[in-house]
Amino acid sequence: MRAHVALATCRRLGGLDADDAILAHEIERRGGRVAAPSWNDAGVDWLAYDAVLVRSAWDYVADIAGYRAWLDTLAEIETRGCAVFNAPALMRQNIDKRYLLALEARGVPIVPTALLEQGQSLAELVESRGFGEVVVKPVVSAGAHETFRASAPITRRDERLAHKAAVIDGAALVQPYLDEIASGGELSLIYIDGRASHAVRKRPAAGDFRVQEQFGGACEPLAFDATLRAAGERALAAIDGEVPLYARVDGVVRDGELLLMELELTEPSLFFGHAPASAGRLADALLARISRRRAAPA
Ligand SMILES: Nc1ncnc2c1ncn2[C@@H]1O[C@H](COP(=O)(O)OP(=O)(O)O)[C@@H](O)[C@H]1O
Ligand SMILES: [Mg+2]
Repeated sequence: MRAHVALATCRRLGGLDADDAILAHEIERRGGRVAAPSWNDAGVDWLAYDAVLVRSAWDYVADIAGYRAWLDTLAEIETRGCAVFNAPALMRQNIDKRYLLALEARGVPIVPTALLEQGQSLAELVESRGFGEVVVKPVVSAGAHETFRASAPITRRDERLAHKAAVIDGAALVQPYLDEIASGGELSLIYIDGRASHAVRKRPAAGDFRVQEQFGGACEPLAFDATLRAAGERALAAIDGEVPLYARVDGVVRDGELLLMELELTEPSLFFGHAPASAGRLADALLARISRRRAAPA
């Protein structure tokens, strides 16, 4: 039977992005059928699919409660035989960047991170941690949403922006600003089925610190060497449960060490366009997992 796969997108995008179009093509070439429903389209019957892959669900920051409820729906359809990637419980954890602190406690080197609870003073936190220039970001965020830079002395405007970031889901992360992102870029290491697949380097536009394309950031292929592989695997090994079908380890190299910026397990861009065989690898891994699931239902 042909596997029917939903590559979940969002209403804002209204279809597959260029990278996921490559993935769709590879799934179809292998005999699968592909649809691109939006996570926030209430009319979708998710049980109509053999598998749901969360892909470009990028507008969820505008409706975090709705998104969490949808992840609960995915958890439920999973118990009824639909394969969901990644595991809904893992994705639920992963949309809250506080997971970084849990990974740090497990020995994963991360970008130094402090938690600013809603109502707490940014000035006091920056002073008590001895930070100079910082980046503040909501604990639930994507695409650098409500993410800003500030330097001591913290102004009333900074406090207002920090409040805006923290109020989104009760806290914000505060990190020292790492100049290495402007100089050496942010690295994205992509793993498929737990194995190193490909890597890219993302650089911000001159004068910006955000590497995202919508802020003028650029991206180039990167050699996925043994040191980077080992660093990425260390982060992945700290995750509980089943090996994620896809994962993106984002980090920045400082003093020769990769510091984890994000471990993306929900809706990361996977940069297939920069690595020719990579979408085929994900299509193979996905279809193999669907077949295994059929052979041994949950
Ligand atoms: N500590 C930091 N130092 C310098 N730039 C940062 C720092 N944290 C985040 N950034 C910039 O902001 C962007 C968004 O932050 P990130 O943690 O990746 O969240 P998200 O991608 O979910 O919005 C990063 O891609 C990077 O360009
Ligand atoms: Mg990021």
